[in-house]
Amino acid sequence: MSEALQNRRILLIVGGGIAAYKCLELIRRLRDRGASVRVVLTSAGAEFVTPLSVGTLSGDKVYSDLFDLTDTAAIGHIELSRDADLLVVAPATADLMAKMAAGLASDLATTLLLATDKKVLIAPAMNVRMWEHRATQRNLEQLMADGIHIVGPNEGDMACGEYGPGRMAEPAEIIAAIEAHFSELEFSGAQPLKGIKALITSGPTHEPIDPVRYLANRSSGKQGHAIATALARMGADVTLVSGPTNLANPAGVNVKRVETAREMLTACEAALPADVAICAAAVADWRVDVDATQKIKKEPGAEAPALKLVENPDILATLSRLTKNRPSLVVGFAAETEKVVEHAVAKRKRKGCDWIVANDVSPETGVMGGELNTVHLITGEGQEDWPLLPKQAVAERLARSILAHFEKKKAKA
Ligand code: C5P
Repeated sequence: MSEALQNRRILLIVGGGIAAYKCLELIRRLRDRGASVRVVLTSAGAEFVTPLSVGTLSGDKVYSDLFDLTDTAAIGHIELSRDADLLVVAPATADLMAKMAAGLASDLATTLLLATDKKVLIAPAMNVRMWEHRATQRNLEQLMADGIHIVGPNEGDMACGEYGPGRMAEPAEIIAAIEAHFSELEFSGAQPLKGIKALITSGPTHEPIDPVRYLANRSSGKQGHAIATALARMGADVTLVSGPTNLANPAGVNVKRVETAREMLTACEAALPADVAICAAAVADWRVDVDATQKIKKEPGAEAPALKLVENPDILATLSRLTKNRPSLVVGFAAETEKVVEHAVAKRKRKGCDWIVANDVSPETGVMGGELNTVHLITGEGQEDWPLLPKQAVAERLARSILAHFEKKKAKA
């Protein structure tokens, strides 16, 4: 078992949702791994789990009322968050997320979340329509931009009888996200990649059919954007060439927004020279061979137009095969639904890149658009199998591998 949670102090905020019952198992598992857990129950949370059951499992007093704290003066709300290494909100309801995004401090939980200077991880849980509502998605974007870590939600049957994304991540997934947080190197201002220029592609591409229609794919850009963030935090000079996504521009990154594969290639070439290129974009393999400057009309009785597709440039293969200005490390991604490693090893050769990050995107994994990823890193020296990790943690681990690569190179020089 990983040591990452040994002696860590977790402040767990339990919001009001049916998923609150899972926090009991979460507390037990966290304590099994050596962490101490102090729980704050919101008043809605207390409708789903009792302070007695939570307190018995956590072995500590359960906090719920802001004014209790000042009464006893034993511990103030600032101390509660100061005493923790990490704040975890599980379940994070739509209401809690909205309050966090707006910076409200209307009860003990939200006051703590506003007063803390510690990292915060939230596990959203709500009805699928509430999750998909523009307001919740807007709040989610705000929280991510504020540096809040997110795990889940998962897709599946919901207590309300509906199906879709909104189920809280399982305790094991929340533990994996917490462990990833603690095992992540704290660079605290150190910039070990200073002087390294990185080029990253991310997101889908949109290939026009006419001025209003296009071909696209389901890539969210989360993994590529997370890599840009991780490298920038480590001091690299990062250019992110992104297809259309709903994501905010990562802080400290030079972002070039493009639509098509051809624009993406041009933007990449313009960003050279670079020391490392990471192609995480889901570039459309084909585009429509038309140059319709007007919307294609549906004429009554006429046959549906036939779309002729032509191949797009392969950006990864192009960058890998450059004779001038080839980045010294070119990393590709391989999304596979079967024989993941075998296909990725072949892809590494075919594309001519140095590393391949292979991931299983079969529908049951929920990787496409989801928060978690299981990857294998394939290099010229072999293969590393990484555990199930949030995309943020995959990005940080890849950034550390890139750092190790450049350090080794420097040592040899
Ligand atoms: O061939 P496949 O699309 O599976 O390869 C995936 C890898 O190649 C990813 O790294 C992706 O960013 C890159 N790619 C590219 N340009 C394309 C197609 C894929 O850079 N036209």
